[in-house]
Amino acid sequence: MEIASILICIFLFLSTLFSYYLIQRQKRNSMHKAKLPPGSMGWPYIGETLQMYSMDPNIFFATKQKRYGDVFKTHILGCPCVMLASPEATKFVLVTHAHLFKPTYPKSKEKLIGPSALFFHQGDYHISLRKLIQNSLSPNPNTIQKLVPGIEALVISALDSWAEGRKVINTYHEMKKFSFDVGFLAIFGQLDETYREKLKENYCIVDKGYNSFPTKIPGTAYQKALLARKRLGEILSQIICERKEKKTMQNDLLGHLLNFQDENGQTLTEDQISDNIIGVLFAAQDTTASALTWVLKYLHDNPKILEAVEAEQKTTYEANDVCKKTLSWAQIKNMPLTYRVILESLRMASIISFTFREAVVDLEYKGYLIPKGWKVMPLFRNIHHSPEFFSDPQNFDPSRFEVGPKPNTFMPFGKGVHACPGNELAKLEMLSLVHHLVTKFRWEVVGSQSGIQYGPFPIPQHGLPARFWKESNQSQTQLGGH
Ligand code: HEM
Repeated sequence: MEIASILICIFLFLSTLFSYYLIQRQKRNSMHKAKLPPGSMGWPYIGETLQMYSMDPNIFFATKQKRYGDVFKTHILGCPCVMLASPEATKFVLVTHAHLFKPTYPKSKEKLIGPSALFFHQGDYHISLRKLIQNSLSPNPNTIQKLVPGIEALVISALDSWAEGRKVINTYHEMKKFSFDVGFLAIFGQLDETYREKLKENYCIVDKGYNSFPTKIPGTAYQKALLARKRLGEILSQIICERKEKKTMQNDLLGHLLNFQDENGQTLTEDQISDNIIGVLFAAQDTTASALTWVLKYLHDNPKILEAVEAEQKTTYEANDVCKKTLSWAQIKNMPLTYRVILESLRMASIISFTFREAVVDLEYKGYLIPKGWKVMPLFRNIHHSPEFFSDPQNFDPSRFEVGPKPNTFMPFGKGVHACPGNELAKLEMLSLVHHLVTKFRWEVVGSQSGIQYGPFPIPQHGLPARFWKESNQSQTQLGGH
């Protein structure tokens, strides 16, 4: 009797194992039947990297999409890639099958930011950190709503300095300083001046080295950046130590990071906190600065829209006794035209043209094989510029946002588990800057007004050199630069 039951158990075990094997084999066979997407892989090793950089990368992708359709393969930057240019494919990678695609960055970049920064991760660590960062940057009364007066003070000080002596400024460089200061405010609240300067100085060296060639040769931009990153860690460690000693709970991002405990009561290490501070600063600065530079460029190039934005902002300006009162959250939320201008600028410029993920298993999408280890790139810009979703896509037309875009066709802040947690802060910065700019200042663009430069995000040629000045008669209706 005992032997019979043992035999039955062995039989059941073996038949389960056999069925599992059959299912897996069937899966593998069907996967092997799936073919790679159409496209070309270029030369061995270099692939099509040179072609991509010899033309504008956006034109490279658009040309390929025209030739091969919404799903195509290529080989760039040393990696075989599948490009995806449809809303459904983007949703597949970033939302419904996000667990099958991991974020992927070069190790050299990871070293500069810090390996524990949230965007290098997925899974439990990512989920809990993301929740924390999202909470600290959410538009509720205790978080970014509280930052409105501080952001306004930074806007006013930046605009006043640009207008001083009507000198020509590099708009993008100035926007970088401004977005850095806002990032600092969101992370540290009010920070001691000595720490500020030290952090700023070292962060600038890291920033310069980020897009340089990674090498071990001393004295190169990359090596200088690594040394500056180490110093940043030391300064942040002192700041963290002081905060812990004071034992005051502050509602800024550092306060949230210090207060974090996972379900097992585990807190974050100093390195994890530092990596995430540098990560957030990094994610916040160039993106917001590029977006703001484009907003100014599009307003400048579209005088009628600028006039309408000024009229909208004037109502708020007058309600606030010509800026004697600070903007309220309700006023920030009630700037419909300005908001649509910002959305349309984000669509037109598509600052994050695409993102990278890596397939963690062999998988199939619409009959095409995406092999394990291949990079997958949702092409946001191609979708934002498709006439199928945005009529006359090259035309700057904020009114198109009077109606909400179709699902997964407008993703300036990404989509899914890694979508931008800083989007509300970025919009707040932009709305506040446009408010003060159009109600009190005028500006003109100097030199050539067309062309795009990559740094690495797209920016107007030469960073949009411009001259700003204070409007002497603020009731005048004639608008800046025109
Ligand atoms: C106009 C300005 C901005 C744009 C266009 C932008 C865009 C994006 C996009 C497209 C992603 C997703 C990337 C991906 O899926 O691979 C992202 C992620 C992220 N952004 Fe932003 N961003 C902006 C401003 C900010 C600001 C102001 C902050 C913080 C203060 C911020 C913090 C982050 C972080 C931490 C992530 C990583 C999220 C994660 O991996 O879970 N961003 N951003």
